[in-house]
Amino acid sequence: MSILSDKEEALLAKARSIGAEFVYEPEDVAKGVREYLNLMEQGLKHSKQAMTMIPTYVTAVPNGTEKGVYLAVDLGGTNFRVCSIHLHGDSKFTLTQAKTPIPKELMIGTSKGLFSFLAKQIEDFVKKHHSDHFEPETSYSQLKLGFTFSFPVEQVALNKGYLIRWTKGFDIQDAIGKDVCELLQTEIDALDLPVRVVALVNDTVGTLMARSYTSPGKAGTLLGAIFGTGTNGAYVEKLPRISKLFNKTENYGEYDSSSGVMVINTEWGAFDNAMKVLPDTPYDRALDKNSVNPGMQMFEKRVSGMFLGEILRNAIVALMADGLFNVAHGTSIDENGPLFTPWSIDTSALSTIQADYTSSYTLTKQLLERDMGVSAASTGDAMAVKALVYGIGKRSARLSAIPIAATAIATGAYEKYKLAKAEAAEGEEVEKIDIGVDGSVVEYYPGFERYLREALRDIQPLVHGAAGLEEAIRIGIAKDGSGVGAALIALVA
Ligand code: BGC
Repeated sequence: MSILSDKEEALLAKARSIGAEFVYEPEDVAKGVREYLNLMEQGLKHSKQAMTMIPTYVTAVPNGTEKGVYLAVDLGGTNFRVCSIHLHGDSKFTLTQAKTPIPKELMIGTSKGLFSFLAKQIEDFVKKHHSDHFEPETSYSQLKLGFTFSFPVEQVALNKGYLIRWTKGFDIQDAIGKDVCELLQTEIDALDLPVRVVALVNDTVGTLMARSYTSPGKAGTLLGAIFGTGTNGAYVEKLPRISKLFNKTENYGEYDSSSGVMVINTEWGAFDNAMKVLPDTPYDRALDKNSVNPGMQMFEKRVSGMFLGEILRNAIVALMADGLFNVAHGTSIDENGPLFTPWSIDTSALSTIQADYTSSYTLTKQLLERDMGVSAASTGDAMAVKALVYGIGKRSARLSAIPIAATAIATGAYEKYKLAKAEAAEGEEVEKIDIGVDGSVVEYYPGFERYLREALRDIQPLVHGAAGLEEAIRIGIAKDGSGVGAALIALVA
């Protein structure tokens, strides 16, 4: 017998039908992969495409023997991080770091305001941890700094890149088109610090480098990916395939071509802004309309942490019209609270609810009270909210399979794996395609990798006949990737 009242049963049915709007079928994922392959090729051939496919000027990946002490800073989401990294040369490193939240007003102010704040954090850190560099006899030894800047830039050299656009809620108009390394160096010099910005690094490139430095495999890492506040990936591409580099009318700079490869920052957050294959619901549309960049970053807005909470909020508000929080006596909602305040629900809320297996949904009820201003929600309410969360989270993970599958296919890594597998003796291990990941969603969202892998298996017959795509891929967390990776790039600079 059901413990739910009729009213609660009806509510749950409605919640499940909203949850079902987030179902992303195998054919949809396969269509996504095909469109991704198409846009990827366009971006490699031509400049100024929606999916930018930015050449990074990084033409080698580390092998774990690199050594030295470097500074790295990381601007890309809610916090600014300053760290110094000591690479020991044996795939190991030690890291000292300081983290400061970025004041909200600086995210939408002026470039002077933001970059002078960043330089001040660097000053505090260097004075605390590297005071020897301020002594007169050692002052000649400048610290090399790798700048992890996780927004789309048109990179023209290892330490020079012009901002194309902001993402993830940042909006500082006067910075667009400027070289972000210069903006930072100017403020560092104003404080007279012994620090030189030598490399500009996207967080995904850092993740790729860090994973390559620490990864167990013989072959390097193919792809570094972030599923955090935003989402994006960088991978190792063969130079001849990046044909826009050879177009004389374009502004691309010099690079070392001896390795025959270059890391490409895909900016896949902008995959399918044209909305040919991406799923769309009223909750996605409401979010996009209220964002600082409508029509942009459409893939990111369905996948990454900055947005999942807002999709959930929109779906909850819709379900309230169908009786959510209104089936039991005594439930009350704070009308000026988070449920009525755009962008106020954190993705960690979804993680908590998704992981709530208590029999009466205690964790969900607590979270509704603490983070959403709903007191004394019923078990039916909690179950309904969980049905929404499940739909939103699973869709995010299944969408994330698209760029991973497409990259493995387009680079030939998957073909290579299949060949090796066919030639391997019974029981012999075949080297997998290594992928380094970082970010709160992939790290903390319950079941994220499992759902992603499920999608990879689903599309197997639809995109590539024979078996093995899912089993070919090894995914490993590259903790602190952006810091260590920036240090590794500063080293070669
Ligand atoms: C940015 C990327 C970045 C990603 C993950 C996106 O919004 O455009 O450059 O790599 O977020 O931080």
